[in-house]
Amino acid sequence: MPKPRSIKSVILLRLAVPLIIFMTVETLLSYFVTLHYVDNAYDRWLLDSARSLTQEIKFPAGKIEVDLPPEALEIFKWDESDKTYFKIISAQQGVIAGDKFVPEPLSEDTDWSKPVFFDEMMYGEPVRVVSMLLPSDPGSETVFVHVAETINKRRAMMIDILLADLVPQLLLVLLVGLFLLRGIKRGLLPLQRLADEIARRTPRDLRPIPERHIYQEVRVLTNTINDLLQRLAHAIASQQRFIANAAHQLRTPLAGLKLQATRALREDDVTAMQPTLLQIQNSADRMAHLTAQLLVLARSEPIEGDYEKGPVDLLELTRSTCIEFVPKALQRNIDLSFETSEQVLTVTGDAILLRELLINLLDNAISYGNEQGNILVKLLAQPSPCLIVEDDGPGIPQTERQRIFERFYRIPGTSGLGCGLGLAIVKEIADLHKARLQLSQVNELGGTRVELWFE
Ligand SMILES: Nc1ncnc2c1ncn2[C@@H]1O[C@H](COP(=O)(O)OP(=O)(O)OP(=O)(O)O)[C@@H](O)[C@H]1O
Ligand SMILES: [Mg+2]
Repeated sequence: MPKPRSIKSVILLRLAVPLIIFMTVETLLSYFVTLHYVDNAYDRWLLDSARSLTQEIKFPAGKIEVDLPPEALEIFKWDESDKTYFKIISAQQGVIAGDKFVPEPLSEDTDWSKPVFFDEMMYGEPVRVVSMLLPSDPGSETVFVHVAETINKRRAMMIDILLADLVPQLLLVLLVGLFLLRGIKRGLLPLQRLADEIARRTPRDLRPIPERHIYQEVRVLTNTINDLLQRLAHAIASQQRFIANAAHQLRTPLAGLKLQATRALREDDVTAMQPTLLQIQNSADRMAHLTAQLLVLARSEPIEGDYEKGPVDLLELTRSTCIEFVPKALQRNIDLSFETSEQVLTVTGDAILLRELLINLLDNAISYGNEQGNILVKLLAQPSPCLIVEDDGPGIPQTERQRIFERFYRIPGTSGLGCGLGLAIVKEIADLHKARLQLSQVNELGGTRVELWFE
């Protein structure tokens, strides 16, 4: 059997995955926004360096003059993490000062009305460059200033921001996860309590589960369990009633049997013993019949899936059972006939139980039908398989039609060996086969017709 999934892990997964996704997106977003502002700040510093350089460029009498005192070059020295390079270049004279390898914007249509920022490579290292065109008088030279700076500080800052963003978020996810786990555990506690409550019960304790401490969501479950407990209590009560009835039914003939045996023993003469022995035989017959009926009933208890379901040749089963009953019918001069136009008729069920059902119907028809009467057994295939047993006896009064299916019930005044279990057995077997049982009167003169319709 596969390991059952735990509600705890399912809830945790459903909550934690969106939470982690949300936090990751949030971290990335805030990282990029912060990065954008940091980049802008560094770009402004780079521009300041370029501007301070332009202060040193003069155009006395239209001629370019660059005077770079050591203080001005101070800013281009290495700081602890980055190198800065510059280049002053004139359109007419070429490189005037600085490093000729400082990259320039490659695009032809660069807008020089404002400083231009771009990323490039210099000496195998990535650099951020700002380029600007010096404002000059008309007729004087066109001079550009380019300042490049390696990006180590920016990178370090990126990592710092990322860590500053990520670490608290990770801690938050961890904390939320812990609280979630605790919350779910506590939330599921009522289920555990319910399981404990049921586990503590004795098998006889079928009281409904009390509604206190039970969450609304668990109520569906407890309602279903309570419903089952109620049905179980009913079933057990009816089982106990049945056992008490059966014990009573067995005790009476047994007591009679004992009494008759004592009486027979008192006689010395075998001929005088004869009537008592006949009584003993009668009691034994009655008990044998009762025991047999009880056993059939026990077998036909409607417990789903507990019987051997399979294809049953209803035609053959009915024919052979009818043949068995011919001698019994003849004892009362009853004409027992079997009628069908079918060649094959198969139903799904338990052949032994279906035979018991027919035996009880035939037994009733012979026992309670008229002497020299007629019994007709019919099989139909359409609209669905149907078994019919009808007699031309006195019939069953309308008022008794419900009660005769009860266990041990016999219509008052009925004679014979019967113990009132036959029709109860018929009903249980019909229910077990999900077949519909119908009882009716054959005609206005009486007669009993029992129909069993299979699905
Ligand atoms: N075909 C019938 N015609 C008239 N009365 C019937 C017929 N079938 C059943 N009954 C009446 O219904 C009662 C109940 O029948 P059921 O078969 O359950 O019990 P039983 O025949 O008395 O005992 P058992 O079948 O256990 O030997 C019978 O006592 C009888 O009075
Ligand atoms: Mg009967």
